[in-house]
Amino acid sequence: MARLTLKWGAKITQNKGFVNINLKVFVPENLPYFCNMKNVAVIGGGTMGNGIAHVFAQSGYSVTLIDIKKDMLDKAIATIIKNMDRMIAKEKITNEQKDQALANINTTTDLKTGVFNADLVVEAATENVEIKLQLFKSIDEFAPKNCVLASNTSSISITKIASVTSRPEKVIGMHFMNPVPVMKLVEVIEGFKTDKQVTSDIMELSKKLGKIPALTQDYPGFIANRILMPMINEAIISLHEGVAGVTEIDTIMKLGMAHPMGPLQLADFIGLDVCLAILNVLYDGLGNTKYAPCPLLVNMVTSGDLGVKSGRGFYDYSHGTKELIVAPNFK
Ligand SMILES: NC(=O)c1ccc[n+]([C@@H]2O[C@H](COP(=O)([O-])OP(=O)(O)OC[C@H]3O[C@@H](n4cnc5c(N)ncnc54)[C@H](O)[C@@H]3O)[C@@H](O)[C@H]2O)c1
Repeated sequence: MARLTLKWGAKITQNKGFVNINLKVFVPENLPYFCNMKNVAVIGGGTMGNGIAHVFAQSGYSVTLIDIKKDMLDKAIATIIKNMDRMIAKEKITNEQKDQALANINTTTDLKTGVFNADLVVEAATENVEIKLQLFKSIDEFAPKNCVLASNTSSISITKIASVTSRPEKVIGMHFMNPVPVMKLVEVIEGFKTDKQVTSDIMELSKKLGKIPALTQDYPGFIANRILMPMINEAIISLHEGVAGVTEIDTIMKLGMAHPMGPLQLADFIGLDVCLAILNVLYDGLGNTKYAPCPLLVNMVTSGDLGVKSGRGFYDYSHGTKELIVAPNFK
């Protein structure tokens, strides 16, 4: 890890009874890259993108949030405001900090202008290989040559994403957890060609954001989802086979295993389309039928029941309250 050593010099003079202290700090030019990062482009204003923009803006970075859909950008800003108001109510931040953080965020639907002066890009677009590969080709074309390109992908190979760019050594996984402002972990994924200095920079940057990074290697699902998704899938298979109902499965895992949320509620929260995409990556990448997505999950995604974001999954969210109500088809 690069160490930061500051040199300083002081000149003390006296004039008419006043003591003047002239202090100079010399900042060495070879600072670790993360120390010089100021501009961060976040791509995708959905569930994760708004949280990632929130956290960077609150830590003083200038953030450009990019999405192909203008309404997603408007929704993202509204969510960030709502979440910051919640933090004010809990006395975690002040009104001034909220105003400052919001002033740090710009939005655009134009990728080229969004990344042109970025020191770091964090991509959090839809979990789809074609979308991500196309995006990284374009980001690589428009972002400055020294810019680090990170993906928040839950499961897609960082090495594969890196391979479509001209800078595979600067491509890395920066896997935030949902909800980003609350969850401490950043799973950092080193691609096959990621430079060790880039890994070290991203680990240090994560700490600067108040997070705790943990390093993994680039294999399907990395660690978080390789372990989490089979559990969620098994919960859906158990429901599908009629072993227990939605409430019972979640209650058993919450009270019996001290999980803060049952696996079915968690799947709704993550997004059932995201869960399905990750399971397919595990199934294809590891070649083992134990990762095959449950047909019930496939049917739910096909019919548009995606969980919280669509208003219905294993639970029904259309009533707009915090009460957990099982979706009509599982009653
Ligand atoms: N949902 C979770 O709990 C979770 C947790 C960790 C990581 N992730 C990962 O984060 C990423 C985003 O997931 P999400 O849940 O926020 O998805 P989401 O569906 O909520 O949002 C995705 C956003 O990407 C936008 N988008 C699609 N193509 C784009 C493009 N070419 N350029 C710009 N924007 C584009 C969409 O308009 C949408 O707003 C995925 O890679 C996912 O695997 C998700």
